[in-house]
Order: sequence, then structure tokens, then C-alpha cells
Amino acid sequence: MRILLVCLGNICRSPMAEGVLRQRAKERGIALATDSAGTGDYHVGEAPDPRAQAAMRKQGMEIGDLRARQFTAKDFEHFDILLAMDADNLRNMTRLAPDPTLAAKACLIMDFAPEHPLREVPDPYYGGDDGFDGVFAMLDEATNLLLDGIER
Ligand code: 4NP
Repeated sequence: MRILLVCLGNICRSPMAEGVLRQRAKERGIALATDSAGTGDYHVGEAPDPRAQAAMRKQGMEIGDLRARQFTAKDFEHFDILLAMDADNLRNMTRLAPDPTLAAKACLIMDFAPEHPLREVPDPYYGGDDGFDGVFAMLDEATNLLLDGIER
């Protein structure tokens, strides 16, 4: 199974989500191909934001190997599930979908955590370091529930 994580810049939320997902899948022995992308092109080629890398390292996860790229329509064909961090990202992805069947592969990552109070992962880029820890907690919850679903 191939899963794509998508945010705006592909340097904060989605590389963190990719890092959590690949680690938790490995811990459970689930074979997954993961990638992440941004709907914007501002940071293409860059490593994740140092604050995102630090928040992940605190949890024992390394994401310094990841590099930002822009989301493309082809991603709808290549991936089985496409998970957007917020509603803007989802709208911008869906706009590029070749057809409605492919568009239906995309949803919000927090759709997998219906009991969490937030539906969207807040953009931590302009905030402080603690925003990244909050993002990590949300992503870890959604990821674990997603993997529960895959295991069933
Ligand atoms: P991300 O955060 O979408 O979680 O990677 C952002 C990173 C950069 C910008 C916006 C959001 N930016 O406008 O440069």
C-alpha cells in the first residue's frame, strides 16, 4: 500500500506525518510505501524545517533525509490513500484530480481520528516550537488509528 501525506509547504506537517507513519508501520511490521508533498512550491528541494526535525528527534524519529516536492495530479494514480493536513490542502489537491474516483482517494488525515477535537492539523510554521509538539501528538493519534484500520 502506498500512502501520501500532503500539506502546504512540505517542510513541517507532512514530513512529520510521513516520519510518524513510516516509524509506526515499521514497529507493527506493516509494509507501506510512504511519501509526502506540498500543494505549494515555495520550499521544493528543502529538508524539513529544523523545528519539525527537532520535535521528531525528541520522539526518537529522524526525518532529515526527506526533501520537499510539489504535489501533482499524477499522485492520484500512484498512491492508494492521499491524506491532507487541512481543508485548503484537500481542496487544492482535489482540484487537480483527473476524475471523481481518483479524487475519492483523498481525505483529511484527522478523518482517521474522529474523536479528536480538531479536524485540521494547524500550520505550525509561523508559531513557536510547542506548536510542533502538538502537531506530533495529533499525527501520532491519527496514524495509529489509520494503522489499526489497515491491520483489520
Ligand atoms: P507546512 O508549513 O505546510 O506544514 O509545511 C508551511 C511551511 C511553509 C509555508 C507555509 C506553511 N510558507 O508559506 O512558506
